Amino acid sequence: MRFFLESTLFLAALSPVSAERVLGAYVFARHGDRTPKVFGNTRLTNLGYREVFDAGSYYHNRYIVADSPHRIEGIDEKVVNAKQISASAPSDAVLQNSATGFLQGVYPPARNAASETLANTTTVEAPLDGYQLIQLSPISSGKNSEDATWLQGASDCQRAGLSSNNYYTSDSYNALLKSTKDFYQSLSPMLDRAFTSSQMTFKNAYTIFDYLNVASIHNATKDFPHKSDLTDEVYRQLLALASNQQYNLAYNASDQVRAIEGAVLAGEILSGLNDTITSQGKSKLNVQFGAYGTFLSYFGLVQLPAASVNFTGIPDYASSMSLELVTNSPGKDFPAPSEIGVRFMFHNGTITGSDKPTVYPLFGQSKTLLPWNDFVSETKKIAVVSDEKWCQVCGNTEGKCAAPSSSHSGSVDTSTAGGSGGMSRAVAGVIGAMVTLAVILGLEALFFLVGGFRIAKRRKAGSEVEVPTVMTEDKKS
Ligand SMILES: *[C@@H]1O[C@H](CO)[C@@H](O)[C@H](O)[C@H]1NC(C)=O
Ligand SMILES: *[C@@H]1O[C@H](CO)[C@@H](O)[C@H](O)[C@H]1NC(C)=O
Ligand SMILES: *[C@@H]1O[C@H](CO)[C@@H](O)[C@H](O)[C@H]1NC(C)=O
Ligand SMILES: *[C@@H]1O[C@H](CO)[C@@H](O)[C@H](O)[C@H]1NC(C)=O
Ligand SMILES: *[C@@H]1O[C@H](CO)[C@@H](O)[C@H](O)[C@H]1NC(C)=O
Ligand SMILES: *[C@@H]1O[C@H](CO)[C@@H](O)[C@H](O)[C@H]1NC(C)=O
Repeated sequence: MRFFLESTLFLAALSPVSAERVLGAYVFARHGDRTPKVFGNTRLTNLGYREVFDAGSYYHNRYIVADSPHRIEGIDEKVVNAKQISASAPSDAVLQNSATGFLQGVYPPARNAASETLANTTTVEAPLDGYQLIQLSPISSGKNSEDATWLQGASDCQRAGLSSNNYYTSDSYNALLKSTKDFYQSLSPMLDRAFTSSQMTFKNAYTIFDYLNVASIHNATKDFPHKSDLTDEVYRQLLALASNQQYNLAYNASDQVRAIEGAVLAGEILSGLNDTITSQGKSKLNVQFGAYGTFLSYFGLVQLPAASVNFTGIPDYASSMSLELVTNSPGKDFPAPSEIGVRFMFHNGTITGSDKPTVYPLFGQSKTLLPWNDFVSETKKIAVVSDEKWCQVCGNTEGKCAAPSSSHSGSVDTSTAGGSGGMSRAVAGVIGAMVTLAVILGLEALFFLVGGFRIAKRRKAGSEVEVPTVMTEDKKS
């Protein structure tokens, strides 16, 4: 198999026309430029909208247009076909809007091509010059992006939370906290509108970098009184420190549960690409948006830092990576899995002009095209592929992990010894639900009596999932 792929590639390299066929792809991307985290209510800016749109347009030119050498075989060229494309993002304003902006680039308005003819022969075009709607699914896998105040808050995976917390007692963290104390304090003229003096430490490395990075992009001098203090040198230092901290929070080689976000993504990628193969190419393109923390933990898990130390750095806004399913098998038939390879590529930041993503090898290997079967076995070592596995790995027993019907093989199942005094789980569940309902009804009655009718708003402010720096105790006051 390996020999087959490499030898045909070798031949392909000799012939002027590449014989490679692209069968499908999984794209994972970061949101575009946004407002700073420190003030909450983060939103995508026009610049950020532009960035994700440009990145999406690149993938349009690569995967969709008819004469592209990398066009995904059989993908509809002008009008989106919902069976061929899946798109998802966590429920978060910045990420969802980014995904929408990106998809507008992937399938731009289809004037005329998408018009419909009614029974009375009138033709109707979509608003906005034929704007195409693409459904965006919320990400199901344990995400809780609404009130994530730090990296693992977005996953509510208990063991991952504990693991990332342990970072704050590591030697590496404490050494940097100490050695950078004066550096952060020296930034106080630039920071004092948003941080208290005690918050100006390495502990808030990301939020501080983020605040100044946003200001360097958006604030003219009158809105950024000490702008000249942010020299290139200081900027680079802030970015390196934030990256060091965030990478360590997202991935630790001797403590794999820390990378739960990347493990879940690896499982989603595997399942998406596998769908393309098992459906014989009916499903073709997956697009997912997520936070840089997910990139970093995925990078760690698939050993990209072995290919370039740059992968331990926070990817820029609108960065994207793509995993392509390719084959050199001739003809038009969908090839056997043994004839399919997987290629990884990444682009740091948005893609404009003649830029394109760079190909990197995964799993510490030297070759950049992995046979599908090797990709599957390597991915399975690091991926979380089901809720059941997630519950086991995370040690969670509540919520979806408490489902009575699932028969866990791990330690999560507490029902095997007869449950609560011999009561069957189903009965216990019904009683539990009735008690809960009674409590809710009681509370609602109280609510109406005392407070009048008001729907409590869920906290949405600053909900972008990737708020990783723990600021809770400092920021509340
Ligand atoms: C055709 O039907 C549509 C939708 O009912 C209506 O808006 C339109 O005015 C009709 N056109 C004619 C020519 O009757
Ligand atoms: C990585 O994990 C190991 C084992 O749990 C721990 O000793 C070490 O401090 C961790 N390093 C960081 C930077 O969190
Ligand atoms: C940038 O401008 C905004 C809006 O005026 C302000 O809230 C923020 O503090 C400024 N940032 C810096 C670093 O001065
Ligand atoms: C791919 O999907 C098929 C059909 O659903 C399933 O049997 C198989 O286990 C999947 N393979 C992987 C690697 O997930
Ligand atoms: C790492 O990033 C630097 C700066 O952007 C770049 O010059 C270098 O080529 C990158 N290294 C690799 C292996 O991609
Ligand atoms: C992306 O660029 C940032 C600098 O803006 C850098 O810190 C990071 O290492 C880069 N990542 C990769 C994979 O090149």
